[in-house]
Amino acid sequence: MTFLAQTAPMLLFSGNSNRHLAEQIAGYLGVQLGDCEVGRFPDGEVRIKLKADVRGADVFLIQSTCAPVNDHLMELLILADACRRASAGRITAVVPYFGYSRQDRKDEGRVPISAKLTANLLEAAGIDRLVTIDLHAAQIQGFFDIPVDHLFASKVFIKYIKQLALPDLVIASPDVGGMKMAWGYVKRLDSALLAVIEKRRLSGEDVEVGFVIGDVKDKNVVLVDDIISTGGSVAKAATLLREKGARKVFVMASHAVFCGRAVEKLRDAPLSEIIVTDTIPVTSNIERLRVLSVAELLGEAVHRIHTNKSVSTLFQG
Ligand code: R5P
Repeated sequence: MTFLAQTAPMLLFSGNSNRHLAEQIAGYLGVQLGDCEVGRFPDGEVRIKLKADVRGADVFLIQSTCAPVNDHLMELLILADACRRASAGRITAVVPYFGYSRQDRKDEGRVPISAKLTANLLEAAGIDRLVTIDLHAAQIQGFFDIPVDHLFASKVFIKYIKQLALPDLVIASPDVGGMKMAWGYVKRLDSALLAVIEKRRLSGEDVEVGFVIGDVKDKNVVLVDDIISTGGSVAKAATLLREKGARKVFVMASHAVFCGRAVEKLRDAPLSEIIVTDTIPVTSNIERLRVLSVAELLGEAVHRIHTNKSVSTLFQG
């Protein structure tokens, strides 16, 4: 662990994954992004050149490890290496979307735990602290031996649900694994009920849904999930919920990975609105898609870390 003086200046740098979000975070904090080149050598290797002095500074590297995942991960690792070798006081990786988080366990023989490997790589590169949003599994925090600030997009989504003022509200999880997350919403919303869908994954692209636990007939249902990847889970869940008599179905998902046939599936799904955040830049043109920003949430977390204030209290009340 490097030494951070109390007077250490705050410096923010961005990789290429989500520069727009990084600029908004900087805007919230009233600072400019640090000047640095994040490019490529002619053979494709990542080329980094910090143009600001980072000696002794409290450095925040903003980079989602979204597609192209490996490129963005390498940019982050090499940025950290450059900062460490330039004697930064502390290096915090702000990773709004943490790629590889779904590979968090050995659920069959001869497979890696890529989320753990990614954590090892970040620490080896010199990262002292991690800030991230809605990890696929909260236990991934334990893959790190450095402090992890795990933020929740629910802070942003709950505000929006309240604006929608939907009567007969049910919060639904598209699978049993997401039940705890859905329950977190129910607890914060007056008179919302919980529903859970029984889902089985057949392959990376395909899922099968069975039954719904909970009453959704004539209800307005908000499905909550951490990721929309190929869109199969939410599309099938929405169809099942409508078959079971739901009045309207909305989906709120923190990370818009949108790969494979996601756009097509979301367009065809019986969803009244698809609400995601900007942890990953959204370029797809889908009607009924709304993107809510997490810039303020991340900016406030960075401010609190820099000024040694509690981050968890951001989520109280
Ligand atoms: C699964 O456990 C996750 O929470 C998401 O439901 C899943 O990653 C979504 O994948 P897809 O959009 O490909 O169905």
